[in-house]
Amino acid sequence: MSLFRNDVYKGLESQPKTLPSKYFYDAVGDQLFRQIMRMPEYYLPAAELEILKTYSGEIADYLLTDKESFEILELGAGDGTKTLVFLQQLNDKGLDFFYRPLDISGHILEKNQQFISASLSGISMEAIEGDFFNTLDSLDRLKESRLTMFMGSNIGNFKPKEAVKFLRFISEHSKSGDLFLIAFDLKKDPEIIINAYHDSQGITAKFNLNLLQRINNELGGDFDIASFKHYASYNPITGLTKSFLISKKAQTVHFSDGESFNFKAYEAIHTEVSCKFDEEKIEYMAGAAGLTKLDWWKDSKGYYSLVLLKKE
Ligand code: AVJ
Repeated sequence: MSLFRNDVYKGLESQPKTLPSKYFYDAVGDQLFRQIMRMPEYYLPAAELEILKTYSGEIADYLLTDKESFEILELGAGDGTKTLVFLQQLNDKGLDFFYRPLDISGHILEKNQQFISASLSGISMEAIEGDFFNTLDSLDRLKESRLTMFMGSNIGNFKPKEAVKFLRFISEHSKSGDLFLIAFDLKKDPEIIINAYHDSQGITAKFNLNLLQRINNELGGDFDIASFKHYASYNPITGLTKSFLISKKAQTVHFSDGESFNFKAYEAIHTEVSCKFDEEKIEYMAGAAGLTKLDWWKDSKGYYSLVLLKKE
């Protein structure tokens, strides 16, 4: 049984039902996510870009200490448009690096490879397709030192405890002196957050519902997409934004291999968490993973932050 099928069946058997958000990103999902990144309500990319434009030079200075060649491993790299701003700055400062974007979507990696190599002529790069956990375990090291980047607030897809486990996991796959550049979305006015995950044009709804379509296409399911609706919530205490797909009626979903799952009216499938943090929490999590905070940068609205961590 494929990993995708296994994860879907496991999630739909669970109580409450869940589906992993990492499966949002098929070709249609990639396209919808690119649309999300351009929505006025989805403030995250603009905030990240502002920080990169303003502070890439400062960040680069931390990498200048020894002039040796190093590798940049970018987890969940996406199409590379924002990373270019940073790589450009490193290039201008004469740093010698090898760029390795890793993503679960082969389709988006192709775009990354084309875009980065066309924009930064002569760059050494190699795209790696895969899932973080499985890939990091078997990934060789090309250079003595490594900068691991985890941008886009992707760390928010973990609940804080799992985020610490994840940080510990990447820390365990690192050497003393390695650096980490991680983007954390910050707690802010709850209305701003909820609007980012429940937009007026319904693009985020399409993005979530596309997962059911993907299951139909790839696993032979018969989800009636129109009988599900997307719903999002934000808890200002825990910082957890949660997305759900809700069955509007009692129904049974079948798969071509004979598997089936029952839904009660208004039963929810939890699809995603997008966690929001504050400075204390970030510092606590880094410490719990055995990493030291070197510096951090925020956008002018204070919505978003980039944190530079070091393995001692
Ligand atoms: C790509 C995981 C950072 O959680 O904000 C956007 C994905 N989900 N809108 C996020 C997403 C709904 C996004 N991350």
